[in-house]
Amino acid sequence: MECGFFNTCRAVIVFIWAALTLLIVHVASATNISIHVAASEIERQALLNSGWWKDRIPHNTSDHCGWVGITCDYEGRITDIGLAESKIKGELGRLNFSCFPNLQYLDLSNNNLSGSILSQIGSLSNLKYLDLDRNNLSGTIPKEIRSLRNLKVLDLSNNNLNGTIPKEIGSLRNLEVLDLSSNNLNDTIPKEIGSLRNLKELDLSSNNLNGTIPKEIGSLRNLEGLDLSSNKLNGVLPQEIGNLKSLIGLFVRNNTLGGPIPSTLFRLTNLEVLYLGFNQFNGTIPREIGHLKNLTYLFIKVNKLTGAIPSTLGQLTSLLQLDLSSNQLHSSIPLEIGSLSALEELDLSDNKIHGIIPDELTKLS
Ligand SMILES: *[C@@H]1O[C@H](CO)[C@@H](O)[C@H](O)[C@H]1NC(C)=O
Ligand SMILES: *[C@@H]1O[C@H](CO)[C@@H](O)[C@H](O)[C@H]1NC(C)=O
Ligand SMILES: *[C@@H]1O[C@H](CO)[C@@H](O)[C@H](O)[C@H]1NC(C)=O
Repeated sequence: MECGFFNTCRAVIVFIWAALTLLIVHVASATNISIHVAASEIERQALLNSGWWKDRIPHNTSDHCGWVGITCDYEGRITDIGLAESKIKGELGRLNFSCFPNLQYLDLSNNNLSGSILSQIGSLSNLKYLDLDRNNLSGTIPKEIRSLRNLKVLDLSNNNLNGTIPKEIGSLRNLEVLDLSSNNLNDTIPKEIGSLRNLKELDLSSNNLNGTIPKEIGSLRNLEGLDLSSNKLNGVLPQEIGNLKSLIGLFVRNNTLGGPIPSTLFRLTNLEVLYLGFNQFNGTIPREIGHLKNLTYLFIKVNKLTGAIPSTLGQLTSLLQLDLSSNQLHSSIPLEIGSLSALEELDLSDNKIHGIIPDELTKLS
């Protein structure tokens, strides 16, 4: 093309450039849309393939974002699947985890799901909340859960999971709640659990865990609830337990823990519930127990404690229940027990207590 003078030539070039740019932008955005449509269609197919929505698709709603329990983002990608208590049966594996890369929330608790947790769970890398509580899941916890780095809540409780707690669980640095209770998990508690610095609740109760409580548990400084009850744990309660300054509830009942109650425990002045019963703790009940001013429940029944009942127990004026039964305590009943004006239940039976019952106990109205 012949350009008469400079300005005309430039105008033509600018026009061609603008037209090309528009075309490119248009093609690119069309491709983008079709990628979203395709991804969204894969998610829709995966929901249909599970068979779980068969009776849950409202009439005239072909858009799966409107189906029961489904939430999508503005691009139509699924972020939440919530089908708790929905009478779903069959294998968990029927939901193809690989199809939901944007999923943040998955709640399938309280159904009748069976089979194992497949390694594909690792593809849910945006997941923040995973609740598979109260199903019939079996097999082991796959080590691929290490990829769920955004997870804040992991609840696999009340299933039939077996094998070990994978040490890879230590990668879940954002975890605030870890509940693996009421399964058949065996072997030891991995020391990597100490990496979960944001944990507030740790429940490993009612499994077959053995070995000692790792001292790394003392790193969990935000922990408010620790339940290791009803396992086969042995050894001592580690000194490091005294670092858990936020602890409100400590449950280690029904294990074979022994040795003395560590004195560091009495630094945990936020403690409200302390269950040490059905173990083999020996030595005396330290006077420092009087520091735990917020205690409402104190259960030390069925252990091998000796010595006197400390009079400092009288300082625990929030106590509702005090159970020191089935030990080898040998002293008289301290009259300070009469100060526990909130007390509803007192059990000192099956010890070697002697002397008179102090008049002060009549104050426990
Ligand atoms: C699950 O989805 C992925 C990705 O779409 C696919 O490659 C895989 O074959 C699917 N698995 C099953 C069991 O359908
Ligand atoms: C877990 O239980 C299954 C049966 O559900 C059994 O086949 C498997 O050997 C067990 N695995 C471990 C590690 O105990
Ligand atoms: C307490 O039990 C441990 C073993 O668990 C034992 O080594 C220790 O001597 C016992 N201490 C007392 C005071 O009975």
